[in-house]
Amino acid sequence: MPDFHLDSHFLNPDRSNLEAIRKLGYAFVDAIVDSVLDTQNQPFVQNSASFQIDIPEQGSELLELLAEVRSQILPRTVNFQNPRYMGHMDSVPAAITIWADALISAINNNMLSYELSPVFTQMEVQLIQWFGNLFGMGTDCFGTLTAGGSLANISGLLLARNWKQPQSKNLGNHHNLVAFVSDAAHTSFEKAMNVIGIGRENLIRVPTNPRGEIILDELESAIKNSIKKGKQPFFVAAIAGTTVTGAVDNIQLVGEIAKRYSCWFHIDAAYGGAGIFTPKLQPLFQGCELADSMTFNPQKWLWVARTCAMLLVKDKKHLVEGFDGELPYMDDRTLNFGNLNLQGTRRTDSLKLWMALKAMGISGCRYLVERSLDLSDSLSQWVEASTELDLVCEPTLNIVCLKSNDPKLSSAELRQKWIDEGKLWLSLPLWKGDRILKAVVLHPYAGS
Ligand SMILES: Cc1ncc(COP(=O)(O)O)c(C=O)c1O
Repeated sequence: MPDFHLDSHFLNPDRSNLEAIRKLGYAFVDAIVDSVLDTQNQPFVQNSASFQIDIPEQGSELLELLAEVRSQILPRTVNFQNPRYMGHMDSVPAAITIWADALISAINNNMLSYELSPVFTQMEVQLIQWFGNLFGMGTDCFGTLTAGGSLANISGLLLARNWKQPQSKNLGNHHNLVAFVSDAAHTSFEKAMNVIGIGRENLIRVPTNPRGEIILDELESAIKNSIKKGKQPFFVAAIAGTTVTGAVDNIQLVGEIAKRYSCWFHIDAAYGGAGIFTPKLQPLFQGCELADSMTFNPQKWLWVARTCAMLLVKDKKHLVEGFDGELPYMDDRTLNFGNLNLQGTRRTDSLKLWMALKAMGISGCRYLVERSLDLSDSLSQWVEASTELDLVCEPTLNIVCLKSNDPKLSSAELRQKWIDEGKLWLSLPLWKGDRILKAVVLHPYAGS
């Protein structure tokens, strides 16, 4: 091997390069603090030029490479640190979770099995049960962390299918299964229907009211109609925090309808789940005990660095029977998450979540969630006071939807103007046929 410096990449057992590796780490800390965190007053994107990866034959000097990242990559990233960025469900991660994420990479344990991550398996089990209890899912609740809400929703639908038709695990799908979600539910439900082999056309999208909440009569008549057509309803979801307006379906009543028709009841609280920390929003979560499964993403409204999401189930049996994988090359006397998850090898995100909860405490989570609701209220009041803007609907959470009411300036044009001026970075979702502006008020110093 011509010019490869093993000691640049790995700690030598003689410890001769310990200080060089430490120095590299400090350089990363400087880059993160100075060129990522301390960019709150920098533009939303500094450089939109295209980028070429350019992989060399000979490896690069590491500090030079980091300098290249600082000069060439970081300016091309979208600057979520800017408190005027409110476009999507992207939070600035709490500092502890940034460093915890690096620690996770360094430890590099594997959630595939207990023998590869004993302490993190115990930690994940307890965290999952802690969240399940917080949502009131009962004493047998269980679950698994996932790399995002889409994967959690896909897993929920898979468990529902295997519960309704256990033979489909081995033989595929036989009957005419249909699932029901609102027309404001996330697109991961279509993805899920594709993945589990039931097909996207068998996902019935139920109309919502102007705020984005599922219309209960429409849900029930859609279920009845499908039965008349010879279909078999198997899955109903309530959304706690819809992707565009942040609406929360009536969990209790959707759950009762699901049970009346012998359906699996799933709650997609990927976004809104953090609302459980404040008494202001807790009433919206009434009925979670009816849920067979639930999605929640601490990586969204709980300021945990990506990735960190979870699927909770009311009954561990459903997770075990739903996946029922085998790891013949592992110690099978212990709990192996690789058997209970669509992913095999998986990061130990539990460490990051546990450290975040320990660092903030329950009262800190409550404070941060309430703070974002207050900041979002201020934004709504600003919109209401403006003669050029209208609120699209009354916000439920910390998501504010607005639009231009100036016939000479579309919402899309207004958005671009605000981005160019550095005033606000909002997104432009399609909502009931119109392009509107959406602000997700997650930055703890939003608007500063
Ligand atoms: C309500 C809802 N569910 C699920 C998801 C998917 O989550 P993820 O992007 O983590 O896969 C989203 C994403 O925005 C969402 O808003």
